[in-house]
Amino acid sequence: MSPKKPPSNIIVRPTRPEDFNAIIDMGRLIYSDLGTWSLEHLESHQHIFPQGQLVAVEQDTGKVVGSSSSLIVLWDDYHIQDTWQDFTDHGTFTNHDTQGRTLYGADVMVHPHVQGRGIGKIIYKARRELTRSLGLRRIRAGARLRNYGKFQEQMSPEEYVQKIINGDLGDPTLSFQVKQGFRIIGVVRDYLHCDEESCGHAAVIEWVNYQVAQRRDTYGRDPKFAKHRKRTMKPGSDTQEDT
Ligand SMILES: CC(C)(COP(=O)(O)OP(=O)(O)OC[C@H]1O[C@@H](n2cnc3c(N)ncnc32)[C@H](O)[C@@H]1OP(=O)(O)O)[C@@H](O)C(=O)NCCC(=O)NCCS
Repeated sequence: MSPKKPPSNIIVRPTRPEDFNAIIDMGRLIYSDLGTWSLEHLESHQHIFPQGQLVAVEQDTGKVVGSSSSLIVLWDDYHIQDTWQDFTDHGTFTNHDTQGRTLYGADVMVHPHVQGRGIGKIIYKARRELTRSLGLRRIRAGARLRNYGKFQEQMSPEEYVQKIINGDLGDPTLSFQVKQGFRIIGVVRDYLHCDEESCGHAAVIEWVNYQVAQRRDTYGRDPKFAKHRKRTMKPGSDTQEDT
């Protein structure tokens, strides 16, 4: 792995079968006890929705340094409190539904040797482009509350999420997602049952594709998780920023 490579050397492209072993190895490093994609999972994703599977690759060496796994869901078929297992059909994506308008982010990861260098940001840009190119209304996902375990005696997961939104605390996953223009629309307890770091809890996050979303698509948000500030777009950016 080349730790000093700048993001300009990174491209995001659709996943190919020859990337599977690198994705599995990266997942083992990142998720260890939590478990990661198996070869059967990755083959299933590729078969069902190849467009939704992306890898970040070092252009000069061809090494896989990040990945993103997504499927399309019809949101009305689910409840906001459903688990990762429900939204991904136990990681297989056999619930992928081309009638749906929501890209569901099942996973994003960046190799630990090169985290914090802007690769996650590039992967999310590609995910937003995918969402637009497919004419989908939104991206939704469950963001693990990675640092919540350290605060579980002091506050509820909802209070923890509010502190992340307000910038009073930082979380390795949720702070990143918030910077990518995601809003929190709920908190799910027991989203990932075996995740000790988060005590199983996750924030339900959403990025809205305003090119096709209608006003009703953003009604009914829990005000608890709003920042109550004016929404603007950063010049030259496709992520929504709070000012
Ligand atoms: C979450 C993850 C994908 C982020 O990828 P990354 O390449 O490390 O992130 P980037 O370097 O692109 O960071 C993008 C932005 O998020 C911010 N960010 C990243 N990690 C952060 C942290 N721990 N706290 C606060 N902000 C953070 C960066 O500062 C950067 O902000 P900027 O736009 O102002 O420069 C990566 O850390 C990872 O693989 N984590 C483990 C797997 C995981 O939990 N995935 C999510 C499953 S829900």
